Amino acid sequence: MKSPLGYTLRRDIADPLLAGHFAPDFLELAPENWIGLGGIWKRKLDQLNEQFRFTAHGLSLSIGSPEPVNIEGLKVIKQFLDDYNIDIYSEHLAFSSIDNAHMYESMPIPFTIESLNHIAEKVRVAQEVLERSLVLENVCYYILPESDMSELQYIKELQQISKCGLLLDVSNVYVNAKNHGYCSQTFFRDFPFEHVHYVHVGSYDTNQPSVIFDSHDRAIDKNTLYDLLKIKDEIPSNVPICLERESNFEPLDELVNEFKGVRKLL
Ligand SMILES: [Fe+2]
Repeated sequence: MKSPLGYTLRRDIADPLLAGHFAPDFLELAPENWIGLGGIWKRKLDQLNEQFRFTAHGLSLSIGSPEPVNIEGLKVIKQFLDDYNIDIYSEHLAFSSIDNAHMYESMPIPFTIESLNHIAEKVRVAQEVLERSLVLENVCYYILPESDMSELQYIKELQQISKCGLLLDVSNVYVNAKNHGYCSQTFFRDFPFEHVHYVHVGSYDTNQPSVIFDSHDRAIDKNTLYDLLKIKDEIPSNVPICLERESNFEPLDELVNEFKGVRKLL
């Protein structure tokens, strides 16, 4: 496997990136954090785009909501993707809004036939509007609504029916496995790696006694790096891998060293 290695773009690290103090192969951004900005942040984003390839990880699609796709909202995102030459647009296999109330959290969907057919149709509509693949991510869930099948079966079926791409979040697999009492390697054994378009590795909080929380605010755990090494040859060549980080960007040297360490490991 030879994959580009990228990093989450947040405003906190825009200046060091522009100054060349940190040089990932690409940057991942949430379109919703940047669409419509003018002034200095628009200028910085344009400068960054001259130096780095971008990928997009959306926040507001809410593919699992009962409502149909917000086509006008998605057209705005498509324009942003076109403007910044972004091929990979990923979202969460979850819902984050209902009845126009936005939660800004990935809520779990029931793994049922009914939701599968509903989401597959929404994926079809979304891909038509986007004119590119919709790449869906396995998310962390702390409770699971009543379901007809396992998460893995659901992902495989959804990919087959809708032809969506898959974002494999390696750390989310570990978090779910620990919280729900199975082994991450069992999950990976039957995972449809051939449909993976993109990979995430992030961090989580293991300080609570009974549950692990997805946190993206600290160094990546050795268990996730171990999982990544175990599966790296299954992932198709050139699939980008992004180190996800949402907060605690200081000191920058630590992030850079961690990034170099993961590069070396791979
Ligand atoms: Fe992720």
